[in-house]
Amino acid sequence: MIAITLLSMWAMNAQERIPEVEALLQKMTLEEKIGQLNLLTPGGGVATGEVVSKNVEAKIKAGQVGGLFGVAGPDKVRVAQELAVKESRLGIPLLIGSDVIHGYKTTYPIPLGLSSSWDMELVEQAAQMAAKEATADGINWNFSPMVDIARDPRWGRIAEGAGEDPYLGSRVAEATVRGYQGNDLAATHTMLACVKHFALYGAGEAGRDYHSVDMSKIKMFNQYLPPYKAAVDAGVASVMTSFNDVDGIPATGNKWLLTDLLRNRWDFDGFVVSDYTSLNEMIAHGLGDLQAVSALALKAGLDMDMVGEGFLTTLKKSLEEGKVTEEDITSASRRVLRAKYQSGLFEDPYRYLDGNRPEKDILTKENRALARKLAAHSFVLLKNHQNILPLQKNKKIALIGPLADSRNNMLGTWAPTGDVKLAVTIREGFNNVAPNASIQYAKGANISDDPEFAKHVNVFGPRIEIDERLPEDMLKEAVDLAKNSDVVVAVVGEATEMSGEAASRTDLSIPESQKKLIKALIETGKPVALVLMSGRPLTIPEEYELPVAILQVWHPGVEAGNAIADVVFGDYNPSGKLTGTWPRNVGQIPIYHSVKNTGRPAPESEKFQKFKSNYLDSPNSPLLPFGYGLSYTTFAYSNLRLNKTSIGQNESISATVTVANIGDYDGEEVVQLYLRDVVRSITPPKRELKGFQKILLKKGERKEVTITLAPDDLKFYNSQLDFVAEPGEFEIFVGTDSNAQLSRTFNLK
Ligand code: BGC
Repeated sequence: MIAITLLSMWAMNAQERIPEVEALLQKMTLEEKIGQLNLLTPGGGVATGEVVSKNVEAKIKAGQVGGLFGVAGPDKVRVAQELAVKESRLGIPLLIGSDVIHGYKTTYPIPLGLSSSWDMELVEQAAQMAAKEATADGINWNFSPMVDIARDPRWGRIAEGAGEDPYLGSRVAEATVRGYQGNDLAATHTMLACVKHFALYGAGEAGRDYHSVDMSKIKMFNQYLPPYKAAVDAGVASVMTSFNDVDGIPATGNKWLLTDLLRNRWDFDGFVVSDYTSLNEMIAHGLGDLQAVSALALKAGLDMDMVGEGFLTTLKKSLEEGKVTEEDITSASRRVLRAKYQSGLFEDPYRYLDGNRPEKDILTKENRALARKLAAHSFVLLKNHQNILPLQKNKKIALIGPLADSRNNMLGTWAPTGDVKLAVTIREGFNNVAPNASIQYAKGANISDDPEFAKHVNVFGPRIEIDERLPEDMLKEAVDLAKNSDVVVAVVGEATEMSGEAASRTDLSIPESQKKLIKALIETGKPVALVLMSGRPLTIPEEYELPVAILQVWHPGVEAGNAIADVVFGDYNPSGKLTGTWPRNVGQIPIYHSVKNTGRPAPESEKFQKFKSNYLDSPNSPLLPFGYGLSYTTFAYSNLRLNKTSIGQNESISATVTVANIGDYDGEEVVQLYLRDVVRSITPPKRELKGFQKILLKKGERKEVTITLAPDDLKFYNSQLDFVAEPGEFEIFVGTDSNAQLSRTFNLK
């Protein structure tokens, strides 16, 4: 007991004291300390709640603001920074935040798309580019990465994360933090990262945004928390709380989460910011009035209050009434000031405000080239009936569909810093990449014919534009065009903002207007390639049965059209793999690959059996498994072997497999390793991803691929939440997706 107390006291004091920060704290009044805990937005960004900050200028001068977001550009940021530095009593510079979720101005694919590349070097490069552009525009703090595990594609924000898997999600989290922060937070091309939304935001009941979460600790620790921890271990500078409750207490006021786990168990020494008014929202959650919830949040370990001004307006009173201590306020203030110090803002508050940089660093040719590459690498080939793809560049192509020439829908959700006007449409991309092809376009259908639905989606601008023509006239034009062409490319799916924040859906199929279009195009008898755009896994069982090619392209970003053309015409062979399972129907949700066996497993045949864990009306298996994705070439796996059959607790083990490219194109493959812990003290998943490697194989080439498991890869959190590996048998599976069949077993002593 004494040992535990000493240990946690040590952990609490682990935060290194920075003399400059301590000296400053000595000079600060109580009001000035509280001021550092206040994050405002003057309304230049995306207002995601009802509140937008008022009297920002006066508050900055009064020392009542620690940071701002929604302000960008060296000139504008300088105005704000000068108010703080020259006109507030102590001249403390501001943190300047932003939501740079998938690129700053050079928008690259939505995070779910980028994760589908399974290429951690590219993920890191993408974040580096975003940091260089954002810092050129005066930003020094980014509200990213979002690492919330999502196993419910009804939830619109699945688009913003890396999918369903804790292992892959952790690798993406680390790579992104490294990319934003580099090795030196004070360098002018790096920014503070903020991992979000802590915690479990992706597990809201029924896939509804902001909804309650209730989860066992075992599931949290093993499945949902690893990516946040990976970001913390990678040195992330800040953490954003989530809107939901965890074990009955909203994350923003949850001491177990913010102090016991994050600071004491994980040794996080950065600062914690709330989400947009999530502090005030604890009133609606039912935890008391603004003063009560603000005191609760400070006590829990929240350092900065985004937009809601609960800290600013109530903490002094709570101190007077003994509900918080001055030490609580000083500690929070210290954490915010430390971040400013680490960013180099005390040395030079204007270090990110070089007016020459935007032109030099933003939307450069190199950046656009990288965005194009990132997009091409994010696409997943779901099906390729009779090798319809790739297309030759000299054909008569009917380019059809409501997303084929729709600039407004290329960037994807949460791209407030991007500019839709700069996006390349697919029609333009086709003309750029295949100038000798004959490319004729027809819209064919509206994204949706439902004006009410369109209104909900169009909050940030026209995404679903309902044509003045009658649907049957549009359809006829498209069918006539198809009949006169060699091949049809139909670009269909979701508009931007049909996924993203507050964009949950209960029906995940392609909207009816577009389904009709697809059927009519198939009836022409022409070969049809579907280019499918969405911010989430969709349910496409009918389309999947059709004789088509399907290329899943997510929302690809500013270079959308060029990247899609690169892949459709074979200049790049698709190599993406799904990072979220695609269900057959909404009833299968939540759905993910690392399910448990249960005591009554369904038959392998998937034929219904009474008193087994299955459905009367659907197989358990998904339409498309986690890790799935085809290539224009074919890879053959053989000869899986392990370097040992038995290992001790501190030993590693390596699996080697032969992979051969036996098709007609050079191509990249993601070799995946899954592990099954056959017997253990808590029910094990049937298999879990524990390693992967992306390799390039020339046509006809073969390679030996070795993936090594470190001792930690065999560990899990047991009933006591200790991270342990238990002796016994393990089975390794290696292959092209989560159904990998080659397997070997070994023993842990
Ligand atoms: C979102 C956050 C975002 C914040 C600030 C909120 O609505 O949940 O992810 O960082 O707004 O824009």
